[in-house]
Amino acid sequence: MEKEIILSVKDLCVEYQADRGAVHAVSGVSFDIHKGEFFGLAGESGCGKSTIAFSIMRLLKGAASITGGEINFRGKNVLMFGKEELRVFRWEKSSMVLQSAMNNLNPVVTIGSQLMDAILAHEAVSREEATKRAEKLLALVNIDSKRLKAYPHELSGGMRQRVVIAMALALKPDLVIFDEPTTALDVVVQYNIIRRIIQLKNEMGFAILFITHDLPLMLQMCDRIAIMYAGKMVEAAPVEELMKQPAHPYTSGLLQSFPSLLGPKVRLKGIEGSVPDLITPPPGCLFADRCFARKEDCRKKVPEFEKIGEGHYCACLHKLRG
Ligand SMILES: Nc1ncnc2c1ncn2[C@@H]1O[C@H](COP(=O)(O)OP(=O)(O)OP(=O)(O)O)[C@@H](O)[C@H]1O
Ligand SMILES: [Mg+2]
Repeated sequence: MEKEIILSVKDLCVEYQADRGAVHAVSGVSFDIHKGEFFGLAGESGCGKSTIAFSIMRLLKGAASITGGEINFRGKNVLMFGKEELRVFRWEKSSMVLQSAMNNLNPVVTIGSQLMDAILAHEAVSREEATKRAEKLLALVNIDSKRLKAYPHELSGGMRQRVVIAMALALKPDLVIFDEPTTALDVVVQYNIIRRIIQLKNEMGFAILFITHDLPLMLQMCDRIAIMYAGKMVEAAPVEELMKQPAHPYTSGLLQSFPSLLGPKVRLKGIEGSVPDLITPPPGCLFADRCFARKEDCRKKVPEFEKIGEGHYCACLHKLRG
């Protein structure tokens, strides 16, 4: 049986107003995340990953505007939510952990109080009950409950980031968005945190939207991955299939840009060139200039993001398979 769809993003378009004109940061992106699924969003810097995350949480600021599309959470369009619906949605239904979140903890309030405040703001429980919950939350991320009285500066960066993760889980959301949650940490700490996130997901059953440009990390832990390029989604597939049979030349290039830990030593290829200007994007496929499989029509015709297999979608006129 198909698993319930928690989040469905349809044809999302987001622009930033800049001095030179509108930056088309996200152009017609669609994807679904199922209950309990670990969904990864990858792509090089500036391709629109964070813009999607902030759009889902309705946290885009200032110069940004959503110019089209829908974001449905359990069938309700988040973009139409009023103040109260948004308040409930933001912590109780979904939450977000950012790369620099550990630096956003309030420096003059103990982590215990910050955890309790998150609980008390949303649930009618006693302070005693909230303290117990805060202790349990810290235990979830392997931090001793004695640390409830600690101030953020008394904890290491990895511990502070784990506190933020605990906070994101405080109200048992159905969806947790992680935007580069461990990029600022060393690899051992990063590995431990990710392992814990996976364990917690399995225990608590929330779905994850995980954003990173670290594709190898993503391949190890996600159920399904979507690859973005210049504000568009170019491929989405279950991890195994994406690794073995990438259909988009950009995905194939990305997979060959990272060293394999266990496989034979091979010369890494990388992808030459750079992302097109998103204010006046060229016609046709945005990847055409850098593509090894490019043909004449690629600079004229925009490829559709179409289904090529079970859970496998690709936007390319000359796919490597399917
Ligand atoms: N406030 C802003 N004003 C103008 N352009 C912006 C603004 N914020 C982001 N952009 C542009 O929107 C595009 C998408 O940015 P976004 O931050 O979503 O990318 P990203 O994929 O998260 O990148 P990274 O991996 O570096 O975090 C980029 O081209 C960026 O320059
Ligand atoms: Mg980002």
